[in-house]
Amino acid sequence: MTEERPIVTPWQVTGRVDYEKLIEQFGTEPITGELLGRIERAAGELHLQLRRGVFFSHRDLGWILDVHERGVKFGLYTGRGPSGPTTIGHMVPWIFTKYLQDKFDAKLYFQLTDDEKSLWPPPGMSLEETRFWTRENALDIVATGFKRGKTLLVADTLCARTLYGMAVEVAKHVTYSTVKAIFGFEDSANIGIIFFPAMQAVPAFLESRLVGKNVPCLIPAAIDQDPYWRMARDIAPKLGFFKPAQIHSKFLPGLLAGGKMSASIPESAIFTTDGEVAAKRKIVNAFTGGRATVEEQRRLGGDPEICPIFQYELFLFEPDDAKLEDTKRRCLGGELLCGEHKEALAGKVAAFLRSHQERREEAKEVLDEFLVKDEYFSK
Ligand code: TRP
Repeated sequence: MTEERPIVTPWQVTGRVDYEKLIEQFGTEPITGELLGRIERAAGELHLQLRRGVFFSHRDLGWILDVHERGVKFGLYTGRGPSGPTTIGHMVPWIFTKYLQDKFDAKLYFQLTDDEKSLWPPPGMSLEETRFWTRENALDIVATGFKRGKTLLVADTLCARTLYGMAVEVAKHVTYSTVKAIFGFEDSANIGIIFFPAMQAVPAFLESRLVGKNVPCLIPAAIDQDPYWRMARDIAPKLGFFKPAQIHSKFLPGLLAGGKMSASIPESAIFTTDGEVAAKRKIVNAFTGGRATVEEQRRLGGDPEICPIFQYELFLFEPDDAKLEDTKRRCLGGELLCGEHKEALAGKVAAFLRSHQERREEAKEVLDEFLVKDEYFSK
């Protein structure tokens, strides 16, 4: 049997991703032990997603640390395509971005691409729908705990006056053939999505433009967004800006076999608004790295590498490295059965959802302080 070749694009992630190959394919750099040491010294502690290789690749991270060591502030930029409810998979890079914001006291631009999700993938949603999801997703973003006054949620059609002019400047330097080569657009692609990558580049430069001097920018995001940054880095010097640096994460696996968590396949994903019962049901029904029978599991052990239950602990839910190691050992040794492990994870997920949902309610009161409009920028 030949294994299906994994696909990683901004719109599709399927198959079992070989992250080392992806570093080669995309031309990014692995996060070395030396870099981890520098982050630890600068930040005071390493986030579990760094210790465990969830964030595994970068461009120019060393430069960002140089800048920081010289006492210069850098900004953060990340984003979300508002096409549906937030899953805990979406929150992986957000939680990490909060760590960076806290440790480096950085200003954060958080783009919500309501235009992109109306344009792509075809047939897209109505703008009314993507604006609805913008507000819904924004509640989850605020509930993640970003700093008030240092975090701007920028939705493209709500901040069009601010963003569009800069997008035009970017677009002038990008040819149709470049966009086709980077994103694989066919001739049947609508003209909106051909232009859109220029919009996604803008928040990387916005702070520089607003303050009137170059501000270094670091983009934490899942690796599938890398094609956008290749384009943005290419044109940055032409506009007199620094190339944005990046730090890339892996994907949280879905609860069903293969692929990442996908909001369009509800049983594959835990939504931030799921009740305890629904979340538990999904976990109990999940695919695991376990064997067909208890006897085989006891004898041969499970495979934590391919098991979403174990991976959820690793990405999000088990803060203690020693406990995580112990769970892995008991899984590999056949001591820990999948049913028992699912039960334990369901408890942690329920606790997370409860406190997230409380913060999500509170976020409704302050949403408009975060979700800015054009007027904010013309003040
Ligand atoms: N294109 C991204 C998506 O579909 C949304 C996005 C915009 C983004 N700017 C970003 C993601 C910056 C990460 C970092 O989800």
